[in-house]
Amino acid sequence: MRKKTLGLFFLLTALAQPFFARAAFHNGGVGECNGCHTVHRAPSIASGTATQSGPYLLRGTDQGSTCLNCHEMVNQSGPSAQYISTPESKMPAGVPPQQMTPGGDFGWLKKSYRWMSGTAVYTDPGYMHGHNIVAVDYGYTAYPAGSQAPGGTYPSADLTCISCHDPHGEYRRTSGGSIVIGGTRPCASGSYDTSPDPTQACPVGDYRLLGGIGYQPVSVPGYPFTSGPPAAIAPSIYNRSEAVTQTRVAYGQGMSEWCANCHPAFLNAQPNTPGAYRHPAGNGAKLGLLARNYNSYVKTGDFSGTKATSYLSLVPFEEGTSDYTTLKSHAKTDDSYLAGPDGNSNVMCLTCHRAHASGWDYMLRFDPGGQTFITADPGGQSVWPGIDVPGDASQAMGRTSAETSRAYYDIPASRFSPWQRSLCNKCHAQD
Ligand code: HEC
Ligand code: HEC
Ligand code: HEC
Ligand code: HEC
Ligand code: HEC
Ligand code: HEC
Repeated sequence: MRKKTLGLFFLLTALAQPFFARAAFHNGGVGECNGCHTVHRAPSIASGTATQSGPYLLRGTDQGSTCLNCHEMVNQSGPSAQYISTPESKMPAGVPPQQMTPGGDFGWLKKSYRWMSGTAVYTDPGYMHGHNIVAVDYGYTAYPAGSQAPGGTYPSADLTCISCHDPHGEYRRTSGGSIVIGGTRPCASGSYDTSPDPTQACPVGDYRLLGGIGYQPVSVPGYPFTSGPPAAIAPSIYNRSEAVTQTRVAYGQGMSEWCANCHPAFLNAQPNTPGAYRHPAGNGAKLGLLARNYNSYVKTGDFSGTKATSYLSLVPFEEGTSDYTTLKSHAKTDDSYLAGPDGNSNVMCLTCHRAHASGWDYMLRFDPGGQTFITADPGGQSVWPGIDVPGDASQAMGRTSAETSRAYYDIPASRFSPWQRSLCNKCHAQD
């Protein structure tokens, strides 16, 4: 242990540099050591709040706090860049979290709701809204209601950013298209439509620096990943309101298998394990004939859609490919590619869930319809339900309409019908 600490000290001293390029820190691999490790208890370079040094000489009390030094910003207003958490000071009661990344804003974990319907009192605790990462400097603590990942054994108490993302970015995508660990350093992120194609001299990082086969944090041994990262490409601007145009991540394949590193019993390929498995998902969970429903479905009562324009970011699918040229041409924020699925497309975990957190229980992308209708309709107009608009308290579920709207990434309620039903219907409703 002592030896390792000294080695780290040497590296930090040798590689420490005074400035950080804010625009590209990880570059698909390991960022500057000094961004995450400190030997002098220097102030954090981001928010300036975290000056303590934690385990492994980290710049936070724990691993997750170290990440949030740069991934939560106190003075943010609105969605921007790599921020994936809104500080409490920016989201008092009734005000939603601000970030709208594909993974979602962890701030939803701090949004608890309570409402009455008749004489019954209902509660919706914040910890139901996503992956409860440990990051104590930023007010995030472990999941209080279960000690292991549902359908798996990963300990809830050890769940943090680096349970999923490799802090040292060791996994890279090579020119041959495979994911390898170590070797030539990546030249850039491989997550974006604008990422360079990997060459022999310049591999790129794997999607979102996610852990690949064999990955396990040094501090949480015993749960090595058995499936590698998904093939996917995000548009280079990915944290934005979808009020006008949608944010389309081009998911290719492998996301469900990757989630199943910790939730094996949920995967399509597994036997139907009581208490875990809910819905087909995986590279083998093909849409088949249901692709037709997806493509014709516009909203409740409207089946006039066509394949060319049927894509809905609240119900994404995998294209069933790992061809990055194709995926790069499909990751958009300007609605220039809205094509829907074909029979070879996959249902995946992220068809229904987000990866970090959301405004709904189980970090679902949409209210799965416990209340039957997802829009309210005062005066025949479609609006998002909320305690501030006329309607049913059990539909608002303690949220303001601004919070409901944000949970749908500010897509206007008018995109849907006044009596819009659950978005499960995107695939399951037929004319
Ligand atoms: C993005 C943040 C980040 C960056 C950049 C980073 N580290 Fe780390 N490092 C971590 C975290 C988090 C841990 C704790 C890992 C764990 O808990 O298993 C860690 C642990 C370590 C450890 C001890 C565990 C091990 O893996 O052997 C060493 C040594 C280390 N880092 C060296 C470095 C060096 C050298 C650099 C620069 C080349 C660097 N780190 C850059 C976040 C980072
Ligand atoms: C010193 C600031 C800093 C720290 C600390 C930091 N990040 Fe980042 N991170 C950034 C910036 C800036 C970006 C956006 C540009 C980029 O991708 O490099 C980013 C992007 C990312 C991305 C997307 C990268 C891609 O290529 O798709 C992931 C994932 C990520 N960070 C995870 C982490 C995790 C996990 C930690 C903690 C172990 C962490 N970051 C710590 C600054 C930081
Ligand atoms: C349970 C696994 C998991 C945990 C825990 C997790 N991430 Fe992620 N993260 C993902 C996945 C998967 C994606 C890709 C989501 C997508 O494209 O839909 C992602 C995406 C990201 C991105 C790109 C923006 C986005 O939201 O799509 C950043 C930045 C990031 N994560 C940082 C973090 C940080 C910082 C933490 C801890 C505070 C963290 N992640 C915790 C799995 C995780
Ligand atoms: C590194 C392990 C790990 C990975 C990878 C992982 N999870 Fe989890 N997941 C957990 C743990 C641990 C819990 C229980 C703690 C909690 O709910 O916060 C959990 C809980 C959940 C929950 C219940 C959340 C809630 O609000 O109660 C859902 C849904 C979920 N995961 C979906 C996913 C999806 C989808 C992916 C892939 C994008 C994924 N998980 C990847 C470890 C993981
Ligand atoms: C078609 C939509 C859909 C797909 C696809 C899907 N889920 Fe879910 N999942 C749900 C819904 C809805 C719930 C919550 C209601 C319930 O308990 O059935 C849920 C609940 C969960 C929970 C919480 C269970 C608990 O007992 O706390 C986990 C974990 C989870 N899903 C993981 C996954 C993983 C991992 C995948 C991919 C392998 C996946 N889901 C695919 C819709 C989906
Ligand atoms: C992206 C398309 C898609 C969405 C969205 C979707 N499903 Fe499915 N669903 C499928 C496919 C594909 C199958 C498997 C083929 C079949 O049964 O026809 C399936 C099968 C099912 C089954 C049969 C279960 C089994 O194990 O065979 C049920 C029940 C179901 N879905 C319910 C739901 C619910 C509830 C939701 C919303 C939370 C939902 N689905 C959302 C595509 C989808």
